[in-house]
Amino acid sequence: MSAILPPAAKYWWKQPLDRVEGTWIVIALTWCLIMFFMMPYWHVYGKQNLSNEAYRTTPEVYQKKTQEMVDKYTVRKETAQEIPVVHPPAGSDVYLIARLWQWWPILELEEGKTYRLHIMSMDWLHGFSLQPENINIEVHPGYEHIVTMTPTKADNYSIICNEFCGVNHHTMASKLYVVKSAK
Ligand code: CUA
Repeated sequence: MSAILPPAAKYWWKQPLDRVEGTWIVIALTWCLIMFFMMPYWHVYGKQNLSNEAYRTTPEVYQKKTQEMVDKYTVRKETAQEIPVVHPPAGSDVYLIARLWQWWPILELEEGKTYRLHIMSMDWLHGFSLQPENINIEVHPGYEHIVTMTPTKADNYSIICNEFCGVNHHTMASKLYVVKSAK
């Protein structure tokens, strides 16, 4: 018999199941089920997958909201590209833009205060990855993603893009500052 000719026994599902084959099917199925139930488990008990909200919007509308925050609360500028560092009021809505190949602006938040962090891509898919916390959020264009978060430890965090987004993907890195609360 060769692959050119039709098989002698036409219906493969009528063949008896080999013991080894059956064992592997059971192992694979069990593992699939474990991984499936790990998804909701990690969402509730893990710390990396934050609950988020997403709303349809446009780059123009989002850019405007971000610009308003930057105009009001910029405290200084950093890096060769003069990226504004913004210190918005504790507990407010804060905006972050992802675009080729930059995070804009740099946010400075206060420890122990709860913020609504908005993130949106102006062009195509980017990945928000906060290090070393390992918090990851996929950032799609056309949607405003909102994560309610409370930074628990004052530190300098790094934001890197973890979705390949073109030739300068590797340069798409930024910072997020968490500082001790003023009062
Ligand atoms: Cu943005 Cu990779």
